Amino acid sequence: MSVWRKKPVSHFERDMKKNELNRVLGRWGLTSLGIGAIIGGGIFTLTGIAAHDHAGPALALSFVIAGVGCLFASLCYAEFASILPVEGSAYAYSYGTMGELFAWIIGWNLILEYMMGATTVAVAWSGYFEKLLHQFEIEPPMWLMNDAVTAATKAKEAGMAAPEFAFNLPAFLITWVVTAILIKGIKEAAKTNNLIVILKVAVVLFVIFVGFFFIDTDNYVPFIPETVHNADGSSSFGWSGVVTAATIVFFAYIGFDAVSTQAGEAINPKKDVPFAIIMSLVICTVLYIVVSLVLTGMVPYNELDIKAPVASAFEGVGMPWATKLITIAAVAGLTSVMLVMMLGQTRIFLGMAKDGLLPFNIFGKIHETYKTPFRSTILVGAVVSIVAATTPINKVSEMCSMGTLLAFAMISIAVLIMRIRQPELERPFKTPAVWFVAIAGAGFNFGLMYFVRPDTWVAFIIWSTLGLVVYFLYSRKHSNLNNYAFEESLKGHDAIVNASEED
Ligand code: ALA
Repeated sequence: MSVWRKKPVSHFERDMKKNELNRVLGRWGLTSLGIGAIIGGGIFTLTGIAAHDHAGPALALSFVIAGVGCLFASLCYAEFASILPVEGSAYAYSYGTMGELFAWIIGWNLILEYMMGATTVAVAWSGYFEKLLHQFEIEPPMWLMNDAVTAATKAKEAGMAAPEFAFNLPAFLITWVVTAILIKGIKEAAKTNNLIVILKVAVVLFVIFVGFFFIDTDNYVPFIPETVHNADGSSSFGWSGVVTAATIVFFAYIGFDAVSTQAGEAINPKKDVPFAIIMSLVICTVLYIVVSLVLTGMVPYNELDIKAPVASAFEGVGMPWATKLITIAAVAGLTSVMLVMMLGQTRIFLGMAKDGLLPFNIFGKIHETYKTPFRSTILVGAVVSIVAATTPINKVSEMCSMGTLLAFAMISIAVLIMRIRQPELERPFKTPAVWFVAIAGAGFNFGLMYFVRPDTWVAFIIWSTLGLVVYFLYSRKHSNLNNYAFEESLKGHDAIVNASEED
């Protein structure tokens, strides 16, 4: 029972033949899904904290840094998607190349990416929902709209006593609405995704073109504010603040990889999935850099709103209807990100359950009427809703980024391993300058992990240890690879080739 055993390509092919999903998505449909998953809480909410607390007007530089790291990773994802167009995304790719233990670690980290991603977006959704209510002069009590820590911070800022109890009810409820839609099936959701994407992109373009006229270039000076040393030993601003902000806004790019979980629905997955991965990322990178320049030009960075910075930026310029429009687009747009993230999570769980690494009864069981993995969807909904209702947004988004950074770094390494071990495999998309891109991708993403705050590191180490315990106590023993009659042939350095021949 070697932890390095690999899933043979022939078995991926067998899984693909068994695919019962409808192949309806073309290259632009897939690109639209990617944009639907990418544009969300990152740009509409986290830009506030990133500029206000860490980067100042240099927020655009943070977007460039995070974008470059993601671009490298996206090229590696694209190559893998062209070789193995299967749903499991990075988990599946690493199962075929780096072995079971690495695949498990990546799968475990993808839980952070997708589940904590959905959690972050649920909290962001609540922030924008509160803003929407405010515009209709409805002011719910603070303890019903925030987790306890955020509520205490806000109460302190307002010179009030902290509430005894606080629960982010909108974040909790929206998660269960999304869960119900996912259990019932996502056909309708997929259709409306295109509409939501058009709305989101239109609003982002609106922010750029209209916001441009309200830029005050004085707000760019100094572009990188001087480093501030905080009482707790950490520091803000300066170049290190720019990089810390990059680890925060990195979250805004997450989602291009979710395209690879849709391979089962793609008409021509080997070509169109790689196209959509790269195209959706490039489009969003350009939009993000320009939006962040406009935003920090419109409002002095230390006055940016932390919960809904993009919509709030238009409050001070005499366009209250614009604030309303952006708020509505953000509420709709964030819902679609939650849908794709929670959907992706259940798909990855399904893949892991099919391979035997998670209990099939919980994570693989399909509802007879709705044909969806309902138990796993309910479990995901329960975790996301409770964490979203009780945890501050920066904590969950940083955990999400941490898991994703590790997955991106490891995919960059895996693509190189695959090139060295199996140069002969057909690759409809080849990562250009693979040595440079793979090493730079791994370096960038590992490098950004270094700048994540220490308490996030502690939580991450606890999470990873828990993952190893689950692997050694459960997954290794239940892996389907235990059952192969030709297990002997899976040992050795070129397992995939051996296994393909024997099949
Ligand atoms: N990139 C997605 C967002 O910003 C996860 O909401």
